[in-house]
Amino acid sequence: MSVVVTGATGHLGRLVVSSLLARGLPAHSITATGRDTAKATDLVERGVTVTPADFDDPAALRAAFAGADTVLLVSGNEVGGRVAQHRNAVEAAKEVGVGHLVYTSLLRADVSTLPLAPEHKATEEIITASGLPHTLLRNGFYNEVYLDRIDHAREHGAVVGSAGEGRVAGAARADLAEAAAVVLLDPSAHVGAVYELVGDRSWTYADLAAAIGEVLGRTVPYQDLGPREHREVLLRAGLDEGTADFLVGLDAGIREGELHGEPGILSGLIGRPTTPLATTLRSRA
Ligand SMILES: NC(=O)c1ccc[n+]([C@@H]2O[C@H](COP(=O)([O-])OP(=O)(O)OC[C@H]3O[C@@H](n4cnc5c(N)ncnc54)[C@H](OP(=O)(O)O)[C@@H]3O)[C@@H](O)[C@H]2O)c1
Repeated sequence: MSVVVTGATGHLGRLVVSSLLARGLPAHSITATGRDTAKATDLVERGVTVTPADFDDPAALRAAFAGADTVLLVSGNEVGGRVAQHRNAVEAAKEVGVGHLVYTSLLRADVSTLPLAPEHKATEEIITASGLPHTLLRNGFYNEVYLDRIDHAREHGAVVGSAGEGRVAGAARADLAEAAAVVLLDPSAHVGAVYELVGDRSWTYADLAAAIGEVLGRTVPYQDLGPREHREVLLRAGLDEGTADFLVGLDAGIREGELHGEPGILSGLIGRPTTPLATTLRSRA
């Protein structure tokens, strides 16, 4: 079978390619795409075909997807421009007759109030309307998203936020990538599925602070601020208004349970327990 992985010049896509190789798919059966293919020379060295394909370039997408049995559409990172870009990818997959399209979406994308959700929901609707056999991987937040809190806690002595007691069922990128590889390698078992993918153990920001404290070898408290004060702290730290509003909006979503989910599907797909948050944090410290 032949598989195309978009976003393979980024963190998640690269891990998916590694998982496909580790699970026995020959390198010559894999095409890795992205924009800046210079970032994927290691994949070329492993025998993977690396092809530039910008989501804004339908002809390049068609060329990259031609002949593929399965395409993994890793959501792009140009927030605000992704619906049109993803539509290009879906249309290209349809035009060249891809047999299975897999998309990395967001946890409960159809109902989530997170500021990131609308682009994922719209993409899911485009995929469903395309009629292509597909699988939706609704990824929870990466544990790695919280790695920069280590540096922040080292500098300021605390984890700060406005998520209250909200729980995050985060997952290591590598676990989500492995789940994607499992799905890509066995289309008939997963076509039509919508998987909500979260780690086995969820945690609050107080738990995150405690875990960071263990990594740093000192007590790190969680300071829960109201949304307004949180925003002011972020602006004083030098963030622009858009970013501050985005981060406060994310914490509001966490407070409402938007990043919490039922465990079991991710560990079931990868056939082992998911990687604990502490393991991810220790990898950076
Ligand atoms: N679940 C989470 O916690 C979480 C967190 C952050 C992001 N995400 C989402 O998950 C995706 C994958 O995560 P990641 O950590 O691997 O992100 P990443 O390292 O930023 O990788 C993003 C990938 O998207 C590619 N891309 C962006 N714009 C493109 C375009 N116009 N045409 C073609 N390729 C394009 C990039 O290619 P180049 O680098 O070659 O330009 C890169 O390979 C992100 O893009 C984002 O949608 C999820």
